[in-house]
Amino acid sequence: MSWIHGKTVLVTGGASGIGQLMGRRFLEEGAARLVIWDVQQQALARVVAELRARGHDVSGFVVDLADPERIRAAAQEMEAAAIAVDILINNAGIVTGKVFAEHSFDDIARTIDVNTLAPMYVARELLPGMLARRSGHIVNIASAAGLVCNPKMSVYCASKWAVIGWSDSLRIEMEQGKTGVGITTVTPYYIDTGMFAGVRSPVIPILKPDFVANRIVAAVKSNRILLRLPGMLNLVPLLRGILPARWFDKVGGDWLGVYHSMDDFKGRQ
Ligand SMILES: NC(=O)c1ccc[n+]([C@@H]2O[C@H](COP(=O)([O-])OP(=O)(O)OC[C@H]3O[C@@H](n4cnc5c(N)ncnc54)[C@H](O)[C@@H]3O)[C@@H](O)[C@H]2O)c1
Repeated sequence: MSWIHGKTVLVTGGASGIGQLMGRRFLEEGAARLVIWDVQQQALARVVAELRARGHDVSGFVVDLADPERIRAAAQEMEAAAIAVDILINNAGIVTGKVFAEHSFDDIARTIDVNTLAPMYVARELLPGMLARRSGHIVNIASAAGLVCNPKMSVYCASKWAVIGWSDSLRIEMEQGKTGVGITTVTPYYIDTGMFAGVRSPVIPILKPDFVANRIVAAVKSNRILLRLPGMLNLVPLLRGILPARWFDKVGGDWLGVYHSMDDFKGRQ
């Protein structure tokens, strides 16, 4: 039996994509309770109803993670309901898929709010409880876009680079303080969830959502600190370090086709 058994898991953005799959997987692994925060009210209600119909203890909170006050209020509602989160999955994310010159200020702010600031705010709300119990785990879903630069992703890349820097720094703080709280940083390549509908990846296969969700849950079980998917992404920091920038552009961008992967991006409509 894994340490997940009997725990309470909170997944942000758990009403679709890998968030939905991870929530289900944690319950199958023996989690006692799943809490989902999502902005999409209908999708959230549907997922909660489906999981409850299978006999699971699931609660849904409509939360716009771009709104810090709503984050604080939702955390307080959970405290009032005596829901103590053991495992936090900071998963919700958005992308515009536009070249930078076409971004409005609001596009930029919302991407940073949801992808970068919200994981920090949610962790800041829930960490004191984990520290007091001397146990807990936080997963931060960044992206391969936090390791590689890419056209039509500039603000998304910035948001995910920031998450990686924050997440792994937090991990070291938790370890130095012998807090009992584990941190996992995840950097997946494209996943076939619809968030990046229209992307083309001629060489590196687009990941299957189930595979990614299962690997993340396994990473929590084993307290893995960094999960790059697929495994070949482990070469990226090395290649960026040793190759001159123009050579890296050639190998990663041109030969692997990454720099044109977003040419036909449609995303979620
Ligand atoms: N799909 C990919 O190719 C890919 C690749 C690497 C990393 N990621 C990251 O994985 C995570 C999950 O992505 P996915 O592919 O499952 O996408 P998805 O669009 O299926 O799921 C994202 C979820 O986040 C929710 N969400 C969006 N904005 C929100 C807000 N303001 N407040 C609350 N919830 C909000 C959405 O409603 C949705 O349920 C994201 O952080 C994404 O950046 C995705």
